[in-house]
Amino acid sequence: MTAPHKHHACPVWIGWLLLNPLRRLLQDPRKILAPCVRPGMRALDFGCAMGFFTLPLAELVGPTGRVYAVDVQDGMLDQLKRRAARRGLSGRIFIRRCGHEDFGLQEFEGAMDFILAFAVIHEVPDVQRLLAAFHRALKPGGTLLIAEPKGHVDGPAFEAEVRIAKETGFILRTTPRVGCAYAALLAKQ
Ligand SMILES: C[S@@+](CC[C@H](N)C(=O)[O-])C[C@H]1O[C@@H](n2cnc3c(N)ncnc32)[C@H](O)[C@@H]1O
Repeated sequence: MTAPHKHHACPVWIGWLLLNPLRRLLQDPRKILAPCVRPGMRALDFGCAMGFFTLPLAELVGPTGRVYAVDVQDGMLDQLKRRAARRGLSGRIFIRRCGHEDFGLQEFEGAMDFILAFAVIHEVPDVQRLLAAFHRALKPGGTLLIAEPKGHVDGPAFEAEVRIAKETGFILRTTPRVGCAYAALLAKQ
């Protein structure tokens, strides 16, 4: 018997579905991100896929800000690169491919104002290690917005993610309302 695969990254074709404009009716990136993001910020979109949130995030940080877009799959990042170029946002979006086990966040040590992890934490086997990596990457007072789709993650599983975040040193600021998703805005103390 073969051992089950422990990595569950969503397939690249799902990346196209995630860009569906109808998604904005439930999960409007500007509404979700605007309370957390200001011009000039350094922001990280972890598990960015093809950039449903990355491009609006880049617009919100403005020309003096930077967005680092991290994903484990080249197929997602190739499309993000094209979409950023078409929107004239390549100059402020910095794309990084990470590994399943190596999140590739060492370069950001204490440098980030804001991290978004939307619909990705449940795909990562070691949640504790991921949240600790987010904590290290943030500036003191920096914020982390986590969200999980209700179809994939149930309430207790999301609460467990929030609990691990608190054990890692985050404080819970708010639980923003996001359509069809659980969400929590956390801050590094
Ligand atoms: C369901 S998609 C969500 C994409 C995007 N955040 C959104 O909401 O539109 C999850 C993404 O996380 C990425 N992913 C999965 N495991 C990862 C890991 N260990 N490190 C970085 N990205 C990962 C997948 O490749 C995929 O693009």
